[in-house]
Amino acid sequence: MRAVSSRCFSFASVNMKSRRSWSVTASDLARNTFNPIRTVVESMKLTPNPEKPMIALSIGDPTIFGNLCPSEEIVEAVVESVRSMKYNGYAPSTGYEEARNVVASYVSVPGATVEAKDIILCSGCSCALDLCISVLANPGQNILVPRPGFPLYRTLAEGLGIRTKFYDLKPENGWEVDLEQLEAQIDDQTAAIVLNNPSNPCGSVYSRSHLNAILQVAARNFVPIIADEIYDYFVFPGHEFHPLASLTNEVPILTCGGLTKRYLIPGWRMGWIVVHDRNEALSSEVRKGLQSLSQRIIGSSTILQGALSRILTQTPPEFFQSTIAQVYASDNARLAHQLLSGLPGMRPIMPSGAMYMMVGVDMTNFPEFENDLQFVERMVTEESVFCLPGRCFDYPNYFRIVLTVPELQLREACHRISQFCTAHYVAPLTLGKEEPLSNGHIHHELHNGIVTVIEP
Ligand SMILES: Cc1ncc(COP(=O)(O)O)c(C=O)c1O
Repeated sequence: MRAVSSRCFSFASVNMKSRRSWSVTASDLARNTFNPIRTVVESMKLTPNPEKPMIALSIGDPTIFGNLCPSEEIVEAVVESVRSMKYNGYAPSTGYEEARNVVASYVSVPGATVEAKDIILCSGCSCALDLCISVLANPGQNILVPRPGFPLYRTLAEGLGIRTKFYDLKPENGWEVDLEQLEAQIDDQTAAIVLNNPSNPCGSVYSRSHLNAILQVAARNFVPIIADEIYDYFVFPGHEFHPLASLTNEVPILTCGGLTKRYLIPGWRMGWIVVHDRNEALSSEVRKGLQSLSQRIIGSSTILQGALSRILTQTPPEFFQSTIAQVYASDNARLAHQLLSGLPGMRPIMPSGAMYMMVGVDMTNFPEFENDLQFVERMVTEESVFCLPGRCFDYPNYFRIVLTVPELQLREACHRISQFCTAHYVAPLTLGKEEPLSNGHIHHELHNGIVTVIEP
């Protein structure tokens, strides 16, 4: 007791001397942390037209409209977990072994089999990403993130003083990675490449060969990959999801996933990291570091851990099929793509997975607006339709729409977007070159540097 009070005394006398009044400031971490979506949206003037009910095509929460709900089995699994009274206490910081075992079986695929020791349960995929970025990079180092990309990578890294460098995705190639540019961005301070497949905001799903090409870049440069696969298996008919780790025996990968999107329960906060080491490329420090970092918040809900086994093994396949059918196959993606494709100045890019579609706006044809922010703002004012401006994803001259909206609302939203475009579109005056390509498409280059490929 005496030792404690003398320590308190010396702390007070040494460190508090210069304080003469209250002035409590925020830490550097807090000050440097910013969320591009919040920053952009909060800077916008969003005043909907009072005569038209608001349709928000902006929110990446599949449950928000009430049309997509978790299956009965999932709900029952959680009720059973609560009732069992077995999951009220603290779990180990990385999760109960039994729950990690279940996740290990669920994520294991040929070429990437893992065990409970390779799994760290987290509070959602965001927390998983946080741990992965924090364990691999020091302040002053950098991670490579996609552009356009999910803004949380920047939020997590830059707060910690870790720089983000962009690698570009190519809209005209189904948002594939510009491999040359990716490789050129790697330097001695690059701690990891973050790859998001299927992608938010693009809705792209990469082919096996493209993933292999990305892995080759990582292998040549000895850079590990953080694979954000929160939309795993959430793909259109005709497309296939390939877990990145299943394609390499050389590149170490930390895969981040969870229940959030596929099981339609974002608020329940169950995510995980899967450590795919290769030839012990990850030093024991990395596993130990993840373990230590997991102790900062003792991350994932024990109720969900208790329900995991039932959720992952008993959710019927029809549940996933029906979500995908609603979001894409029969309805929304194709509908929105079809309705927006015909509009002047709009370039919707058909997604292959996830829940989003990016729509290019030929801003030169909307000279009234200085930028995509103003375009989106005015669409709210006149049509009460809110889409997220591309700059939330570091990609101006686009907006992102979500495809989880009920079909009727989506139709109505597209109709209003159509009215808006017709009202504000001005025929091109200052277009640059147009060159026919070998496939009959037109390579169409605008003065602002955006290149589009128009189907004949
Ligand atoms: C690409 C991507 N990664 C991670 C997350 C975060 O997922 P969670 O809600 O599980 O934290 C999201 C959420 O929208 C996302 O779109």
